[in-house]
Amino acid sequence: MIRKDSYPVLTAEEAVSFIQHGSTVAFSGFSPAGAAKVVPVALANRAKQEHTKNRPFKLRILTGASSGQSIDDELARADAVSWRAPYQGESSLRQKINREEVEYVDIHLSHVPQMLAYGFLGNLDIAVVEATEITRDGRVYLTSSIGASPTFLQYADKVIIEINKRHSPRLREMADIVVMPPPPHRDPIAIHEPLTRIGWPYAVVNPEKVLGIVVNDEPDHVGEMPPSDGVSHLIAGHVVKFLSDEIRAGRLPKNLLPLQAGVGSVANGVMAALGEHPDIPPFSMYSEVFQDAMVDIMASGKLIGASACSLTVSWAKLQEIVGNMDFFASRIVLRPQEISNHPGIIRRLGVIAMNTALEADIYGNVNSTHLYGMDVMNGIGGSGEFTRNGYLSMMMTPSIAKGGKISAIVPMCPHIDHNEHSVQVIVTEQGLADLRGLGPKQRAKAIIDNCAHPQYRDYLNRYVQESRPGHIRHDLTRCYELHRNLMNHGAMLP
Ligand code: COA
Repeated sequence: MIRKDSYPVLTAEEAVSFIQHGSTVAFSGFSPAGAAKVVPVALANRAKQEHTKNRPFKLRILTGASSGQSIDDELARADAVSWRAPYQGESSLRQKINREEVEYVDIHLSHVPQMLAYGFLGNLDIAVVEATEITRDGRVYLTSSIGASPTFLQYADKVIIEINKRHSPRLREMADIVVMPPPPHRDPIAIHEPLTRIGWPYAVVNPEKVLGIVVNDEPDHVGEMPPSDGVSHLIAGHVVKFLSDEIRAGRLPKNLLPLQAGVGSVANGVMAALGEHPDIPPFSMYSEVFQDAMVDIMASGKLIGASACSLTVSWAKLQEIVGNMDFFASRIVLRPQEISNHPGIIRRLGVIAMNTALEADIYGNVNSTHLYGMDVMNGIGGSGEFTRNGYLSMMMTPSIAKGGKISAIVPMCPHIDHNEHSVQVIVTEQGLADLRGLGPKQRAKAIIDNCAHPQYRDYLNRYVQESRPGHIRHDLTRCYELHRNLMNHGAMLP
């Protein structure tokens, strides 16, 4: 369908007048990359105005993943969020979730498009999507992330497009977009290596649904990645040694397998170390976010190609990419999250998954999301789909937090995102525990000896010795003693 008239140009304030209290609104953005920028801020202002008039104004908010300041922070501060999915990472929203003021649904990211399509998440009233261009026949050229925007555009009742003039129109050269049909009408996904392209450089919307466009000139608000600290450096060293030993032992091919790295400074530091190390051959990535460290590794020729869902890089790094588009566009593919995180493709390619944990227990179960099993940190994100389906699944964490008051190795995790059946390797700055082929007793020994901080090893060894024998030794009266101590006395070993 081709629209005869051009799309109305709206101010952000005019655009939000279409959005009613109680609506479900989906914003583009996978991390702050490609996030809608001016409409959510205007929406937050509208909510504040409504609240001063004692009128309710809260929304159900969907995004691809985290969204950053322009969406989650602004809307949380305006008290404009009643429900949120599938992932978040802002402290203002986190506090509201943990005070039970916002209902939060923490979802595997590749599931979101299908859940939305099938109505698991209710009706999608409106989608606000950042693009560099929309054509009259409804082709939407997205910016620095793809996320779930193609699905939002397809299923929303109404659509607002934020045309971002600051982003390079050449970003479309990296996009490879398909929207999967509902099961059972799905063909095999023909991705056989990280850079295979199977789709189009644009998402599609019915032009009749588009209420208008809002023009802006704002950069993505992705912060600079802090330089990796000593702990990340040690973790990276253990990972590099492990992978190079695996290649030597013939358990990994000579040119590695595609790597996936989670979010944050530990993952960024590990990627930088892999990029520099002479024992690591040139490699490719099948990952979720493309972070700062990867730009330099790619420029050096060590990172041959990368599939991702977003360019979650600082603005300076993004300019490096778009300034050298002829080089980067043939080496980076940006996909919808349903494909970038697809379990079947992760399994087929033999991805090496490297994610970050909050804590791990002595048997290899991992908590990535909930402090004390109660307060959410961010969410599971894509870590579950990569960890469950990777050829090798590694979990990394500093062995202690808060200056030693918290041990990241505990008898039993009070919340488990990744269980012992999926996690194969645990790494802290102390060392690496290779759990493959080990039963529970040996797993506990490997994790305590290699990964726990020395100040917690005696406690953990005693816990195992004094627990009730069984296939997995535990003492149900004491398994959360460290967590109870932390809550009651501010330290796990007071
Ligand atoms: N108990 C209580 N608090 C803990 C803790 C524990 N076991 N471990 C860490 N913390 C605290 C830290 O002290 C820090 O607090 P501060 O912000 O007050 O300083 C905070 O939690 C964050 O810890 P840090 O080690 O800096 O975390 P990070 O930035 O490396 O992120 C995760 C770690 C697990 C929160 C993050 O990787 C995440 O959200 N993962 C899930 C999603 C994911 O993996 N996505 C990628 C998949 S593709």
